[in-house]
Amino acid sequence: MKDFKQLIITRRSTRKFTDEPLEAGQVELILKSALMSPASKSSNPWQFVLVEDKEMLEKLSLAKKHGSKLIAGCTLAVIVLADPTRSDVWIEDASIASIMMQLQAEDLGIGSCWVQIRERFTDADTPSDDYIRNLLDIPAQLQVLSVIAFGNKAQDRPPFDEEKLQWEKVHVGKFNINQLID
Ligand SMILES: Cc1cc2nc3c(=O)[nH]c(=O)nc-3n(C[C@H](O)[C@H](O)[C@H](O)COP(=O)(O)O)c2cc1C
Repeated sequence: MKDFKQLIITRRSTRKFTDEPLEAGQVELILKSALMSPASKSSNPWQFVLVEDKEMLEKLSLAKKHGSKLIAGCTLAVIVLADPTRSDVWIEDASIASIMMQLQAEDLGIGSCWVQIRERFTDADTPSDDYIRNLLDIPAQLQVLSVIAFGNKAQDRPPFDEEKLQWEKVHVGKFNINQLID
């Protein structure tokens, strides 16, 4: 296990993966991190669909005009769903589950990338969530937030440069308008 500070500095989105599949134990740990995510009122409005089938990954990679092609090269996609009838803050709950899985993956040395689905569209201007709902038989009451693509890393990304952190976005005591740059 990495130390947490190191984990945060080295986590970068991975968009190129090797063909080597993840081990069952690794997948289990990633899913455990989602199922242990904090959720408002413990309503746990999320559901997760795992896809490893190459043909289905190819189809999922067409879910958006831009930014989803990388799914075709991953070895595991976790589609993060949530039920708005169970929680008014389902977006937050599902987002937290998404990042928890990414952090657990990074701790295992596995690469991942968040692919945004909610509020996005396919090439044919179909809502990306409807496109995925149809592909995977997802019930209408469930919203599709994201696809998290996982796989063994086939690219090296540099860690964060702490010299470049946007400290001007941090306000002490009260908001300082002079720190607003953009
Ligand atoms: C809400 C959200 C949506 C994102 N959507 C996409 C996406 O659709 N496609 C993609 O390639 N990356 C996506 N990303 C990854 C970001 O582009 C990436 O986190 C950002 O550029 C910072 O780079 P880093 O993760 O390597 O630090 C998304 C990240 C977040 C948090």
